[in-house]
Amino acid sequence: MKLKLRVYPDPVLAQKAARIEAITPDVKQLAQDMAETMYANDGIGLAAPQVGQSVRLVVVDLSGPEVRDDLRVFVNPVITEKSSEIVETEEGCLSVATLRANVKRAAQVTVQAQDLDGNELTIEADELLAVCLQHEIDHLQGVLFIDHISRLKRSLYDKKVKKWMRQQDKAGAN
Ligand code: NI
Repeated sequence: MKLKLRVYPDPVLAQKAARIEAITPDVKQLAQDMAETMYANDGIGLAAPQVGQSVRLVVVDLSGPEVRDDLRVFVNPVITEKSSEIVETEEGCLSVATLRANVKRAAQVTVQAQDLDGNELTIEADELLAVCLQHEIDHLQGVLFIDHISRLKRSLYDKKVKKWMRQQDKAGAN
């Protein structure tokens, strides 16, 4: 089932997500629904807080855009190593409407997580996967890519968001 996306400044996006203690059928269902939601929105990654569930679950699929066939699910992912080499990549986020901006991140990371069967995974990621995993794991800490951009860009974006919210309030009142 496709889930409703939470969009900045929804407070759930700023919360630190809880560890998943047991991979229950509900957790498996959530992973499946998150994948469906990611595909429906042409995303390459999605973290559970983005669908209003404050738990440490991430789905990633870098394939596409036509065929999406490389789904990876990460339960409780943690970055255990980061390269000192930095890359700058233009990022967007399904929870951050319209904005894309350059973000600097480690070029390579090692991530430990579990899969949906509870197996321990160690992933050595580079290129887009490294960037995507850092972006998604940030979500579990309540951090968005706009927390990494310049103060000026951020304040311009916040002004825009406030204006949209005022317009929505007005539309709602009519
Ligand atoms: Ni995101």
